Amino acid sequence: MNTPTPHLSVRGLSAGYGRARVLFDIDLTIEPGTIACVMGRNGVGKTTLLNTITGLITPTTGTITHNGTDITHLAPHHRTRRGIAYAPQGHDTFAPLTVAENLHVTHQATRRGGPELIDAALARFPRLQPLLHRKAALLSGGQAQQLAIARALVTNPSLLVLDEPTEGIQPNIVAEIEAAITDTAAQGITILLVEQYLDVALRLADTVTVIDAGRIIHTGPRTELTHESAHALMAI
Ligand SMILES: Nc1ncnc2c1ncn2[C@@H]1O[C@H](COP(=O)(O)OP(=O)(O)OP(=O)(O)O)[C@@H](O)[C@H]1O
Ligand SMILES: [Mg+2]
Repeated sequence: MNTPTPHLSVRGLSAGYGRARVLFDIDLTIEPGTIACVMGRNGVGKTTLLNTITGLITPTTGTITHNGTDITHLAPHHRTRRGIAYAPQGHDTFAPLTVAENLHVTHQATRRGGPELIDAALARFPRLQPLLHRKAALLSGGQAQQLAIARALVTNPSLLVLDEPTEGIQPNIVAEIEAAITDTAAQGITILLVEQYLDVALRLADTVTVIDAGRIIHTGPRTELTHESAHALMAI
C-alpha cells in the first residue's frame, strides 16, 4: 500500500549560527491539512527551525521536503512561490507602507492568485478594513500581527508558517487570531505553528512537537497529551 506523501518532511536537520549549533538532528513530518504545533521554552531553537524551513538559514545537515520535492537548498522567495508563507515572530510588516499597500505589494510579488485573495484576507481580519490607509508603522501590536498573517494569506499558501502569532497580544485579539488559524486549516491549508501559550496550542494542534536545547524531546498527536503532561514537558 502506498503511504501518502507528507506535506512537509524534515529529516536529520541541524542548523546554527557560525560555530554555535542550535538545532540537532530534527525530524518532523506534517500531514496535509493538519496543524502542527512546535513548543518549547525561550531560546530552544523554535525560530531557528522555522527560519531553516522557510530558507532564511541554511542547515548544516539534513533535508527538507515539501510535497515530495527536496527544497533544502531553494531560495526563500522560491519557497514562497511554492506556497510556503511565513509570518515571522514579532509581526513583520512593511512599516512605511499602508495596510492596503502591504497586502498589494505582497500579493503582486508572489502572484499565486487573483485580487480575491486580498478580499478574503481582509474578510478574515475585519479590524483591518477601516485601517487600509494607515501606515503599518502606526498599527497597534495586535493590528500589526493581524496584518502580518493577512500578508501571508494573500500569497495563497499551501503551508502557513506562523511564529508565535499570539505573543504579547490581548485575549480578544488572540481569540480572533485563533479563529483565523482554525478557518485557514479548515480550508485545507497546512499550518506549522510555534505557540508558547499552552491553552492556545492544545486547542489548535493536531500534532505537538516539543523542543528542548535544540532537540526534539516529544512528538505525537495532540490526543496523546493532557494539560498536565504537556506542562511537564515544557518545564523540563
Ligand atoms: N542571528 C543569531 N546569531 C547568533 N545566535 C542566534 C541568532 N539568532 C538566534 N540565536 C541563538 O540561537 C538560540 C535559539 O534561538 P531561537 O530564536 O531559535 O529560539 P526560540 O526558541 O525561537 O526562542 P523564543 O521563544 O525566545 O522566541 C538562542 O540561543 C539564540 O540566542
Ligand atoms: Mg522564537
